[in-house]
Amino acid sequence: MPEADKEGERYSADIPQKAPGFFLKGSHQYDWGLKNRLARTFNPQSGRTVMLAIDHGYIAGPTSGLERIDLSIVPLLPSCDALFCTRGILRSVIPAESQKPMVLRASGGANVLREDMSDEEIGMDMDDAVRLNACGVGIQVYIGSEFETRNVHNMTKLVDAGIRTGMPVMGITAVGKNMKRDAQYFRLSCRILAELGATYVKTYYVEEGFETVTSSCPVPIVMAGGKKLPELDALTMAYNAIQQGASGVDMGRNIFQSDAPQAMITAVAAVVHQNLKPKEAYDLFRSLKTNK
Ligand code: 5RP
Repeated sequence: MPEADKEGERYSADIPQKAPGFFLKGSHQYDWGLKNRLARTFNPQSGRTVMLAIDHGYIAGPTSGLERIDLSIVPLLPSCDALFCTRGILRSVIPAESQKPMVLRASGGANVLREDMSDEEIGMDMDDAVRLNACGVGIQVYIGSEFETRNVHNMTKLVDAGIRTGMPVMGITAVGKNMKRDAQYFRLSCRILAELGATYVKTYYVEEGFETVTSSCPVPIVMAGGKKLPELDALTMAYNAIQQGASGVDMGRNIFQSDAPQAMITAVAAVVHQNLKPKEAYDLFRSLKTNK
């Protein structure tokens, strides 16, 4: 008889990593400013965040749903915990009166016209993130790509600047076209980003073994949304990610490309902060959509 597969046991996904004196995994030994920025981005009561990702224009131009951010996204601001956007959109469109924490896309250089989008550079100075009163910066790293070493250096330079200024750095595990999206790949890339100093990591959900991705990553993971899915599927994915150890979501298209973005972000928030089950969250989405 073949031996039972015990690999999953080594991750002890059911034993939470301790963070004495602070609510967020792996973040209890930072200085006050960095912790304060994290406590604004992640809700200290639930320990989780609903970050609304609208940075797509930096590689894709006026993406469907983001043609007029003033009209489509600004009304959603009260319903998210944080916004992930570029400094260009922040300065030109997001009202400075907003109390929402802003996490700024800090890389650039490639775009959708290029075959390989991993050829990126740092796209903004940490000085500017501080000037903009940001609560974090985000940068992606394509582990296994041709430009991996440069991607990694881009992130570690931001991490050094983040430590100097108290600015959290969200490392994003970008995936090249030819890479396999499975738990083994995301365990590798999330862990590498955390070991190299990312304050938290944004990564994709996988059906099999996602709890091994979250449990082997010593810092919080937020789930990336990915391409638009039917609402029930997107809510199920968010629910599963949260139940399997994610500390929130950073979703874009599955919210702003929904035919009822306000209803969708409210349903996502109920999944993230109140552990609402997918079917109940979908019922909530449908009733809010009907009553809008
Ligand atoms: C890709 C990114 C994106 O720019 C964006 O934030 C993705 O959002 P979504 O996939 O949910 O539309 O970070 O790595």
